[in-house]
Amino acid sequence: MCGIVGYIGHREAYPIVIKGLQRLEYRGYDSAGIALYDGKSIKLSKTKGKVADLKERLESEISIDGTLGIGHTRWATHGIPNDVNSHPHYSNSGDLVIIHNGIIENYDSLKKELINRGYTFQSDTDTEVLINLIEDVKKNENIKLGKAVQIALNQVVGAYAIAVFDKNKPNEIVVAKLGSPLAIGIGDDEFFIASDASPFIEYTKNAIYLEDEQMAILRRGKDIKIRKIKNDALVDPYVQELQLNLEQIEKGGYPHFMLKEIYEQPSAILDTFRGRLLSNEAIIKMAGVEDNMKKFLAADRIIIVACGTSWHAGLVAEYIFEDLARIPVEVEYASEFRYRNPVITEKDIVIAISQSGETADTLAAIKLAKSKGAFVFGVCNVVGSSIARESNAGAYTHAGPEIGVASTKAFTTQITLLTLMALRLARAKGTMSSSEFRHHLIELETIPGKVEEALSSDAYVKTVAEIYKDSKNCLYLGRGFNFPVALEGALKLKEISYIHAEGYPAAEMKHGPIALIDEQMPIIVIATKKGHYEKVVSNIQEIKSRKGKIIGIVTKGDVSVKELADHVIEVPETIECLTPLLTTIPLQLLSYHIAVMLDKNVDQPRNLAKSVTVE
Ligand code: F6R
Repeated sequence: MCGIVGYIGHREAYPIVIKGLQRLEYRGYDSAGIALYDGKSIKLSKTKGKVADLKERLESEISIDGTLGIGHTRWATHGIPNDVNSHPHYSNSGDLVIIHNGIIENYDSLKKELINRGYTFQSDTDTEVLINLIEDVKKNENIKLGKAVQIALNQVVGAYAIAVFDKNKPNEIVVAKLGSPLAIGIGDDEFFIASDASPFIEYTKNAIYLEDEQMAILRRGKDIKIRKIKNDALVDPYVQELQLNLEQIEKGGYPHFMLKEIYEQPSAILDTFRGRLLSNEAIIKMAGVEDNMKKFLAADRIIIVACGTSWHAGLVAEYIFEDLARIPVEVEYASEFRYRNPVITEKDIVIAISQSGETADTLAAIKLAKSKGAFVFGVCNVVGSSIARESNAGAYTHAGPEIGVASTKAFTTQITLLTLMALRLARAKGTMSSSEFRHHLIELETIPGKVEEALSSDAYVKTVAEIYKDSKNCLYLGRGFNFPVALEGALKLKEISYIHAEGYPAAEMKHGPIALIDEQMPIIVIATKKGHYEKVVSNIQEIKSRKGKIIGIVTKGDVSVKELADHVIEVPETIECLTPLLTTIPLQLLSYHIAVMLDKNVDQPRNLAKSVTVE
């Protein structure tokens, strides 16, 4: 959570930093701030609210010149969102300025020591403690900023991506990372800093992703120096060429990123299987699986760890892996798994699913699994992310940047990738005949076109949204492969429209939730033709007898549900294990339209952030 941006070079820093903050706002948006330095005076402004509020305030409040600048967009951890707790923070002398993404866990004891030494604090943040600790070390040891940052960080427990500058050193920014992401863009005699590369993509394609426990000193006009925080060893910078382009991170004519990302799903799914699914040759090529096939074949079980929507994708994968490849699968919330002393052996394979690749609990869960000897396979979207790097092997979903906080294309591309894996393993284990395998490949190849067709129900879904937008509660039901889709549909509705929603396995309804049903209650039932269709139709009958309002997500041409439901939304027919890729689409659109109609901030729902880097 929190986004950080910085610039040092020959350009004016303000436009780069403010635009960068707007691009990183998905990481946190309860307050924002900027510090600019022109070599004479530091101009610092910060405010509760969005980057747009900061921009308005800044442009009337301070002169915005300076070729060194740092900025921050916050998701509050220590201290409520207000002007004072916003970053950047000054040290007591006013010489040092910091921005920070992460948490300093031992901040309380450090703060007490600093107070004993005469330091005072304006804010409730852990970050203000850190900058004063750096100042204290610098003063006591009479050393330069870089060295002081290093010594201070060795006393810190927690996670951080920081950028610090010193008023007395106008040509230098010091950055460091542990647990939170930090990318450095390398331009001509200039450096950019950001939580991801999007703020500097129009200036340079060359970036270094700092590794954990590394710091760098960025000096105007000089080469970058990267060191290990622990032992001061110099590290050779590894400069990567960014694949990201500007178009991918802009709205492209859509009113919201979420809608753009919903509509990107046909191409995103295609990108996930491009070069991997070769239906003519009847093969699936996945280097990360191929290279470790022995391990996969010898595994006793697969444990999937993830959070939120990615956990839902994991649940779909459980059904798919068990059905196709006959491998036992357990799906775990990473936050529970990491703290419950789980039984893990060297014969376990842990699959970590994460769009951002930065989710703190998922990262900690895989570190735990690795320490017990399990083999960890990462399924991430963000290239070079912490989870991708920490995993023993993995595969990227290639969905492209997902900026809307509510996950959409990440979910369907995760399912696509996990389906490819399950199919590859099924073939290797001989749990599928070659004709079945080929049939699945051919069908998977048709999915982008079918998602496109499912999207054509958008206008109708909007009319359904209009009818139910004022509901207070909502129930989502599904069975088998579509039970996790029910959970995901409910999550999408609650997170962006703030309507209470629950997802349930349809058959479980009569064990409790049925008591909630009355004529006010919309119930979205996924009732596609395959699998347990008749059983779901019986569940719909039960709802009907209790006067619930039924919205059926059905296979094109369905008759039985149409007779019972108040509304039906059709999706094209496909094989059962692929239905989640289609049934998800109308649920995403329904949540989106309801949230827009209720005038909610669709892309930045309250209290949430895209990348959850705190536990
Ligand atoms: C919901 C949503 C979250 C994320 C969760 C995990 O729409 O986006 O529930 O799925 O925070 O994030 P990643 O996948 O980045 O690990």
